[in-house]
Amino acid sequence: MAYDTRYPSIDDLRARAQKKIPKFAFEYLDGGCNEDVNLIRNTAELREVQLKPNYLRTHKGSSLKTKLFGVEYDAPFGIAPVGLQGLMWPNSPEILAKAAFEHNIPFILSTVTTTSIERASELTEGKAWFQLYHPAKDTLRDDILKRAEAAECPVLVILCDVPTFGFRPRDIRNGLAMPPKMNISNILQAFGRPHWSMQTLKHGIPNFANLLPYMPKNLDLKQLGKFMDETFSGRLNEEKIKPIRDMWKGKLVLKGVASEYDTEQAIKLGLDGIIVSNHGGRQLDAGESTIKPLSTIAEKYGDQIEVMMDSGIRSGPDVARAMASGAKFTFMGRSFMYGVSALGNKGGDHTISLLKTELQQVMEQLCCENTTDFSDHLIK
Ligand SMILES: Cc1cc2nc3c(=O)[nH]c(=O)nc-3n(C[C@H](O)[C@H](O)[C@H](O)COP(=O)(O)O)c2cc1C
Repeated sequence: MAYDTRYPSIDDLRARAQKKIPKFAFEYLDGGCNEDVNLIRNTAELREVQLKPNYLRTHKGSSLKTKLFGVEYDAPFGIAPVGLQGLMWPNSPEILAKAAFEHNIPFILSTVTTTSIERASELTEGKAWFQLYHPAKDTLRDDILKRAEAAECPVLVILCDVPTFGFRPRDIRNGLAMPPKMNISNILQAFGRPHWSMQTLKHGIPNFANLLPYMPKNLDLKQLGKFMDETFSGRLNEEKIKPIRDMWKGKLVLKGVASEYDTEQAIKLGLDGIIVSNHGGRQLDAGESTIKPLSTIAEKYGDQIEVMMDSGIRSGPDVARAMASGAKFTFMGRSFMYGVSALGNKGGDHTISLLKTELQQVMEQLCCENTTDFSDHLIK
């Protein structure tokens, strides 16, 4: 498990991914929303966080091991849920789930990705987390929750930052907004990426694997858009969260939190954790970067609920910055998808190995022995 020295940064993987996959798929992965202000802010403001080393302090060694919800993981970062992963690289959710399992880090499966809960659970021996898009009908919600429970999924993630779809100009142009449209330009782009096209033919056209049992057969793209619209009701509130809390015996996490108000609601409703997240800048272009509310939320509520964070993290030093600012654990979406789009089957292992190596180097440099001690190095 070592990284490929030809790609020693997430930027290298991003550049390679851009060459390997069709433009519409790359833009779906890479873009934020509107003018990409929030997307750019996430990484830029995270990187303003600075850490102080203590070179002369006694150092017994640094360990990336981090406990979360009673489980010891091998690193303080995990793989965030990403929809439609098979569009970017065929089979990518399976590649990432396997790599996460082998590296002992969490993998979160999205409701709207291209592998099922059952398959993710099989690949990770019941360790995969599941992210639920809120179904409009209670019967569908109950059925999906029963499947997640039967798959022994330990953590359920519910999402509060998708009351509406993000407004994403590239996806609208490329026919990837709702309802989706295939156009001649997309087909030509696919022809220009033969490896991607061959792999797609080999694995079959990606589908919403979790939703197949509920979908009428042979939907055209317009009907698919209508089905998705009618199946989910994005806006979360107390009435929707309460029955899930009552039903779900495992850990329950709210993702997409960006305010103290939502954190307080999560605590009141008995949730076990929150992910301070803005969906990687894909929802509210006028919103704050996640590093901004993180410190206050972690300081004020960190002893009542597990505070995790994502959006904008692209390196080991970025993970350290987020942890020093109060995150108990971090997640990344695009970094892993760039890795797998760039390197196929080897992309998951490569990206995790690279991030672990970088983070280990930061810890040694700081003289930080445990991932719980990053905050001692924060320059306020
Ligand atoms: C292409 C793409 C699709 C995504 N789909 C989902 C999804 O289905 N469910 C979800 O909870 N978050 C989704 N997210 C958000 C990620 O879980 C995560 O919050 C985000 O990627 C973190 O930002 P980063 O990409 O800068 O690491 C998606 C993100 C991207 C880039």
